[in-house]
Amino acid sequence: MALLPIVTLPDQRLRDPSAAVGHVDSSIRTLMDDMLATMYDAPGIGLAAIQVGIAKRVVVMDVGKKRGEEEEEVKDPVFLVNPEIIRASEETSVYEEGCLSIPDFYAEVERPARVLVRYLDRMGVRRELEADGLLATCIQHEIDHLNGVLFIDHISRLKRERVIKRFIKERRREA
Ligand code: NI
Repeated sequence: MALLPIVTLPDQRLRDPSAAVGHVDSSIRTLMDDMLATMYDAPGIGLAAIQVGIAKRVVVMDVGKKRGEEEEEVKDPVFLVNPEIIRASEETSVYEEGCLSIPDFYAEVERPARVLVRYLDRMGVRRELEADGLLATCIQHEIDHLNGVLFIDHISRLKRERVIKRFIKERRREA
């Protein structure tokens, strides 16, 4: 498994919509494995392919799962190809979100509290997943990436422009 470089703000590729995957083959599975390794290494809880510069509708996530009450967290990876939200609750919830493409910036975002998602799994099998809590928020955040949308698009314009400016400045300083 390879660690892939993560695309960060203000890279315009983050604004590109990603293309649907026609067939879940071994190259897609290799991409997902590399994305998962990259996500765990970062560390993060979700990663969309465009965040490693590949404009395909592929997402990996692991919001963690506790086994027993005092036991350690176990790995619980989720692989989504061509995910689509087919139902979202009226009820909303608020989570503080972050993004591996916008390092060290966090903000509260309000989204539907529960979603029903249709997707292809790692083997290309069509499945549905009903999610709530952090998983529901994470799925919506990652599907946004596939449409060129970032979580900062859900906060005030003032705050968004401020964080974008900060990243443009940092990029200039590095250059
Ligand atoms: Ni993100």
